[in-house]
Amino acid sequence: MSIPQHIAVVMDGNGRWARQRYLPRVAGHRQGVESLRRCVRACEASGVKVLTVFAFSSENWNRPEEEVSGLMDLLITALSGEVKPSHESGVKICFVGDRSRVSERVRAGFTKAEKLTEGNQKITLNVCFNYGGRWDIAQAARKVAAQGKEITEEALEAEMATAHVGDPDLLIRTGGEYRISNFLLWQCAYSELVFSDKLWPDFDEAALDTALEEYAQRER
Ligand code: FPP
Repeated sequence: MSIPQHIAVVMDGNGRWARQRYLPRVAGHRQGVESLRRCVRACEASGVKVLTVFAFSSENWNRPEEEVSGLMDLLITALSGEVKPSHESGVKICFVGDRSRVSERVRAGFTKAEKLTEGNQKITLNVCFNYGGRWDIAQAARKVAAQGKEITEEALEAEMATAHVGDPDLLIRTGGEYRISNFLLWQCAYSELVFSDKLWPDFDEAALDTALEEYAQRER
């Protein structure tokens, strides 16, 4: 079976998962972190080398204040609780996105996690935070222009925020929506797209296998 080397995921459906249980939305995001941990393990076990997830989009700032601060708290909790065990399991963690709008504390947490895990080789986890596909193209263009170079595809490619891993072979979106929502616009030009009706907190090993099978069938 052909296994994608790089999977990107739009982890959608946390809010609905929480609503179904009469819980606050942030409880859905908390369960989303659990689901992400399980997904990293399952990807690694299947031979996937890179997992890139959309944790917080440039548009997510427009959500209710309570939800935004809940997501920030969750991020800080995850940085203090998840990084060490991930490191021990050989996960290399990278944060992708515009860091100018995140707090000094969060920025320091990103750098610390990246430094700690930079030598790991089992799987790379890219956490896209304050990320948008259009932002990425614009920031790459600004860097190429600042170098005084001509704006070519190759030059932009080299400056995209995910240049360290290359393009995803497979993009999965959970939660039953069929949109890219300003995720990896440049990078998904040739990716296979697989949509799952499962809400992200319910996206388990079996759901990942279903997506991997769909990918393998298309690659045949
Ligand atoms: C979309 O669900 C999900 C998000 C906006 C956040 C995804 C974040 C995680 C899975 C947790 C990992 C993140 C951090 C901060 C460590 P939704 O709220 O749009 O769900 P809905 O479509 O059902 O409303």
